Amino acid sequence: MATLLNTIEDAKARDICKAHGDKPDELIEVLHEVQAAHGYLSDAALRTIAQSLNISRAEIHGVVTFYHDFKKEKGAKQTIKICRAEACQAVGANELIAEAETHFKTKMDDKAVAIKLEATYCLGNCALGPAVMIDDQLYGRVDIARLKTISNNHKGED
Ligand code: FES
Repeated sequence: MATLLNTIEDAKARDICKAHGDKPDELIEVLHEVQAAHGYLSDAALRTIAQSLNISRAEIHGVVTFYHDFKKEKGAKQTIKICRAEACQAVGANELIAEAETHFKTKMDDKAVAIKLEATYCLGNCALGPAVMIDDQLYGRVDIARLKTISNNHKGED
């Protein structure tokens, strides 16, 4: 029996929709939970959500593309957000970025890497710059030595 690729569904997404009562007005919460479970929103997951919540795929696509936090592809194993707003620049953010690019052998916002460096503009930690965020954890007064340690510690949490 042949199985069409576009009929494959995501069982986890189905369970999450069910836990939300298959209510269309809980789409954002469902998307967040599915992404938390898989790390991104696959086509299969989006099809399953559309079917479960009885929402058009176009509508879901609009929501997913509108919100910056939703990812349609598997991302890096670790994303290091480095603030490059003015207060952090004044205390060495640009130097930290240059050293991080050298150390992690990547460039800011390069997507095809295991460790992604992502520019962000103010993490609300201006008095303790340069500020960095990894896995929703905020760090202040980060230099390259501290960044290496923090990054390694987060790898150990997998
Ligand atoms: S300017 Fe960097 S945390 Fe506010």
